Amino acid sequence: MTSLKVILGLLPLLSSVSAIAVSEVERSCQSCNGGWSGYRNVGYFTNWGIYDPQDYFVTNISAKEYTHMNYAFANVDINNGTVFLGDLEADIQTEYPGDNLNATGNNVYGNLKQLYLLKKKNRNLKTLLSIGGATYSENFANITQAKWRETFVNTSITLLNDYGFDGLDIDFGMLNELAAAVGCGEAGWHGLDVKGMDKCLDFWNLMAYDFSGEWTPTALPAANLWPDNNPANDVGVSGHQCVQHYLGEGVNSRKLVLGMPLYGTAFNGTQGMWTNWTDIGGGDYDQAGNYDDKHLPLEGTVLFYNKTLEAAWSFDNKTGHVVSFDTPTTTLAKAKYIMKNQLGGMMYWSIDQDFSKLQSEGKPNGKIWPGVWDRLKGHSRKVNYGKWKGAPWPLPESFKYRPQSNFKRSIPSSITERAEIETVKERGFNFEFGGNWNNWNIWGQWEQWSNWRPKITDNICLNIGYSLVDTVKTAFEKYGGGLDRSKNNLNYPHSVYDNIRNGMA
Ligand SMILES: *[C@@H]1O[C@H](CO)[C@@H](O)[C@H](O)[C@H]1NC(C)=O
Ligand SMILES: *[C@@H]1O[C@H](CO)[C@@H](O)[C@H](O)[C@H]1NC(C)=O
Ligand SMILES: *[C@@H]1O[C@H](CO)[C@@H](O)[C@H](O)[C@H]1NC(C)=O
Ligand SMILES: *[C@@H]1O[C@H](CO)[C@@H](O)[C@H](O)[C@H]1NC(C)=O
Ligand SMILES: *[C@@H]1O[C@H](CO)[C@@H](O)[C@H](O)[C@H]1NC(C)=O
Ligand SMILES: *[C@@H]1O[C@H](CO)[C@@H](O)[C@H](O)[C@H]1NC(C)=O
Ligand SMILES: *[C@@H]1O[C@H](CO)[C@@H](O)[C@H](O)[C@H]1NC(C)=O
Ligand SMILES: *[C@@H]1O[C@H](CO)[C@@H](O)[C@H](O)[C@H]1NC(C)=O
Ligand SMILES: *[C@@H]1O[C@H](CO)[C@@H](O)[C@H](O)[C@H]1NC(C)=O
Repeated sequence: MTSLKVILGLLPLLSSVSAIAVSEVERSCQSCNGGWSGYRNVGYFTNWGIYDPQDYFVTNISAKEYTHMNYAFANVDINNGTVFLGDLEADIQTEYPGDNLNATGNNVYGNLKQLYLLKKKNRNLKTLLSIGGATYSENFANITQAKWRETFVNTSITLLNDYGFDGLDIDFGMLNELAAAVGCGEAGWHGLDVKGMDKCLDFWNLMAYDFSGEWTPTALPAANLWPDNNPANDVGVSGHQCVQHYLGEGVNSRKLVLGMPLYGTAFNGTQGMWTNWTDIGGGDYDQAGNYDDKHLPLEGTVLFYNKTLEAAWSFDNKTGHVVSFDTPTTTLAKAKYIMKNQLGGMMYWSIDQDFSKLQSEGKPNGKIWPGVWDRLKGHSRKVNYGKWKGAPWPLPESFKYRPQSNFKRSIPSSITERAEIETVKERGFNFEFGGNWNNWNIWGQWEQWSNWRPKITDNICLNIGYSLVDTVKTAFEKYGGGLDRSKNNLNYPHSVYDNIRNGMA
């Protein structure tokens, strides 16, 4: 508890802050044998994601893919600092299978009961309550008042204890739109007492995304790993620059968790990436300009991959619609970056947006279902995404992949300007599933079109449509000893896996 008080003592120094994971309250593992090893995989679960059409519940979480689950968001009373649950219905009232709402007593149901159950079944999974976020951040306005902070500390600890969380994650980086937009850039880290905060934080989640948006005059990649060497496109921030900044402030590399978006950032009316845009166009749900990864790439688009930046985007040359998003290829590059630089792991916003993991028994080299991600809107969102995500195997008889007979050969043709590119276009795979779905966009090995095979690098499947969270986990397992299975602690000893990492290509 002491540590939390210290943390709150520092808060006035922050003008804006990215998502900061503030400790597992319980530090009993500091003396555990072996200490820290492996990497963190930190997911954000959004409590509003349970509603239609997202329909992503706590029971949809693949707990083994994560070391930490951040539950977003709790709110705080602007006037007195009281932290409280943001959506009582979703948080503690919604009925999940197996709940008996008639039971007597003052019982917790909803997401928080399920999160607790999930944790009990996965004893290494650490759960954190996230406070703030875009909507609630403005309620931190009175944080300069000592009494406000004291109430904040007291009430958040009460929530942790009442609902069985392991820790707290404070996210008020979105005090204003600009700070949120460049959470990793100058505006994001300006004014932070990094050294002071670092004493209190178990780890830092770097929001290495939203590098571009309505505030950038041209369309730009939104989460590139490497800086743009073209001054005209340089917005002063990239994943690497963000990491360098915090390392430069003296933060132990093991405490830096690189954030990755599981959504795409769009611009419309462009002439391609790096050109002027007219509007941000449509988007998923009520979020103009943003798409869940699982709906990408949009139909009829060409996919670009720039290895220099480690960035990918889709482009529709009829409307000039560009969507920047991570693919398994850029994701693997980020995972390797984390391991080479001995960072602490990866963080994802938000887990409901990930590609489906529609892959044979989870084996990268197994037979794979090409392109079965929930990209199409409407029908397929309800059917495919609703039905198969989380439990895709075995696929039912009605969902048949019919090679050969229904193939329309269509080899990628256009390599458009400024791109090291893979092309996705109408590929003519036919699926039979309550209708005839044509024209799946598939990114595989096309020279093998008649015997379609997954795109494999380092024995990791890099087909679009494959879960990015799992791509990272697999890479961590292959090179870095896997996920951190220990409890968190402040001393990050060099792990026995360092040699493996150092030997990594
Ligand atoms: C809290 O902040 C709001 C908005 O900044 C302000 O109007 C209000 O007076 C503050 N409350 C207290 C108790 O200081
Ligand atoms: C804080 O203010 C809310 C109303 O805004 C009130 O319900 C609550 O009791 C107050 N808590 C404390 C500790 O004063
Ligand atoms: C709960 O109570 C309602 C009405 O009393 C009843 O219809 C329902 O079957 C009960 N459910 C359970 C799980 O006992
Ligand atoms: C916070 O909790 C401590 C310890 O229980 C108590 O002494 C203090 O009065 C509380 N502060 C507020 C503002 O509620
Ligand atoms: C892009 O926009 C800028 C500023 O709005 C303008 O000066 C420039 O001419 C535009 N470029 C093109 C190619 O339209
Ligand atoms: C992009 O703009 C064009 C022309 O205004 C429009 O037809 C199209 O729907 C827009 N695309 C998106 C995804 O909003
Ligand atoms: C989550 O799981 C439920 C129950 O198994 C299922 O109905 C729902 O479609 C799943 N949601 C997603 C997004 O996979
Ligand atoms: C748009 O892309 C398609 C497919 O890649 C290509 O055939 C066509 O020539 C392109 N049109 C323009 C105007 O570049
Ligand atoms: C990739 O992006 C960099 C930085 O803007 C640029 O210099 C390079 O030309 C791009 N590569 C390709 C193939 O477009």
